[in-house]
Amino acid sequence: MPSTRPRGHGGTHPAERSREAVVLKIGGSVAGEDDAALDLVASLHDAGRPLVVVHGGGPLVGEWATRLGLETRFERGLRVTDGSTRDVALAVLAGLVNKTLVARLVAKGVPATGLSGVDGGMLRAEREDETLGLVGRVSMVDSSLLEELLAALRVPVVAPAALDGDGTILNVNGDTAAGAIAAAIAARLLAFVTDVPGVRGKDGRVIATLDRDRAKALVDDGTIEGGMLPKVEACLVAAQAGCRAAIVSARDIDAIEALLSGEAAGTVFEAAA
Ligand SMILES: Nc1ncnc2c1ncn2[C@@H]1O[C@H](COP(=O)(O)OP(=O)(O)OP(=O)(O)O)[C@@H](O)[C@H]1O
Ligand SMILES: [Mg+2]
Repeated sequence: MPSTRPRGHGGTHPAERSREAVVLKIGGSVAGEDDAALDLVASLHDAGRPLVVVHGGGPLVGEWATRLGLETRFERGLRVTDGSTRDVALAVLAGLVNKTLVARLVAKGVPATGLSGVDGGMLRAEREDETLGLVGRVSMVDSSLLEELLAALRVPVVAPAALDGDGTILNVNGDTAAGAIAAAIAARLLAFVTDVPGVRGKDGRVIATLDRDRAKALVDDGTIEGGMLPKVEACLVAAQAGCRAAIVSARDIDAIEALLSGEAAGTVFEAAA
């Protein structure tokens, strides 16, 4: 019997709905003053698309750390994190940034539900390396809470944080967390919604498609750097896991629908053959 369910609402089993899901990683910077990324979330939700929103907020963590007299240092785009910095990151990301995003989405009529990677034991991590301190690399995703929220037609908004084996809370990169979540729920699409229209090549023009070899060359010659590094790595990992993965501009309102219908937008990543 043909289904009359609206497209995008998936089946009745929680895991079916998450396989239709789009994981949107929105930057702390795009979630600032302007509403483009949030309007995108609202329009996709209104169209019946199951969504998981993952956010960053690095600059705001830095701002609060400075206000509190803590020094901030980055290595390979990752924050060096002692106990106090981890506390500030958690308070700012899972508190201020997460609740601000949820409040603004709720105001747009989206049933946004804020949580962090700690909640429900969603994200497990191993220490990245000694020099980075309380920074983890996501090693396991328990997606059951996300699947329950998606089945209840809610929009989970996830702040990056994870638990290590001892129950210590680790700071994790939001881009990496988004990639791991997309792979775990076998999402239809992982999209990084950011402040640039995609990955730019040496000539400054957006590169339509990237595979691991080409991306590596651009990392090695310094064309891809800073905040773009964890995004590119997360996209390559997700693409390898079978997800469509892309980096698009928050201003490109049609990008996500285009990507879902197999068309080009921003930079799309290809799995190795
Ligand atoms: N090759 C490149 N192409 C495009 N952007 C690049 C490239 N290399 C580095 N970048 C930088 O990456 C930035 C996007 O990453 P960034 O971490 O700043 O944003 P975000 O992750 O969306 O937000 P946030 O980290 O604040 O949550 C761009 O604004 C640009 O400065
Ligand atoms: Mg970033």
